[in-house]
Amino acid sequence: MNSDTTIKNMLETMNNPDIAIAEVDEYLTMQHHYKSAIAEIRTKLEILNDGFILTHDHNPIHNIESRIKTTRSMLNKLKSRGLEISIDSARKNLHDIAGIRVICCYIDDVYAVADMLISQNDITLIETKDYIKNPKENGYRSLHLVVTVPIFLAEGHIDVPVEVQIRTVAMDVWASLEHELRYKTDNAIPDDANSELLVCASTLAVLDERMQRLFKEAENMSGE
Ligand code: GTP
Ligand code: MG
Repeated sequence: MNSDTTIKNMLETMNNPDIAIAEVDEYLTMQHHYKSAIAEIRTKLEILNDGFILTHDHNPIHNIESRIKTTRSMLNKLKSRGLEISIDSARKNLHDIAGIRVICCYIDDVYAVADMLISQNDITLIETKDYIKNPKENGYRSLHLVVTVPIFLAEGHIDVPVEVQIRTVAMDVWASLEHELRYKTDNAIPDDANSELLVCASTLAVLDERMQRLFKEAENMSGE
């Protein structure tokens, strides 16, 4: 659909309340599906976290955040990729409309949480990007999964994609501050700040390894 057709459709929609209502309904239905998918995954993660303490005497999850992509951000992403601007197209092409971020205490917890989640029968793994084993050039580290989870509706069930980002507290500190810096500099972080960020990322990676080691030693001592 080119932009002329999109504008024409919008005008027709405004002149035709039935179409407008149908489109709002379609939008609300989409929101409901993604909101439900987030609730399903959140519950799974909370159950796993609560169960882990019984077997491992430790909570792997520090906290969970979630969001549904804003309409503006969906629109921008579709536009920048030259894709059709429609709810159908967003559903088909965007895998991060529903997003969950899981902040874990230690690196081992990140992989334990990922494994426990994707080994569940109703979860299908669509994509894995391991930016912990292979950090981004700027230093960004995190484990990204795209999974689908079924949600059960009156008409039957549908599988809804959710992007799950799993990272440690240290990785989260870096990502949050880098994001803020990028926002402040309008996506143009100066070169020297980029190099500084990379140094901070490696410092935090070392911190993660040290904290992991300390935790393992403490675990071994308490097991003796
Ligand atoms: P998009 O999904 O279109 O963003 O492209 P992609 O699939 O190549 O990106 P990817 O899945 O690798 O990362 C998507 C999300 O991860 C972003 O929306 C951010 O939340 C997070 N992310 C990725 N790279 C960075 C980064 O360099 N800094 C920060 N702060 N977050 C990042
Ligand atoms: Mg992505």
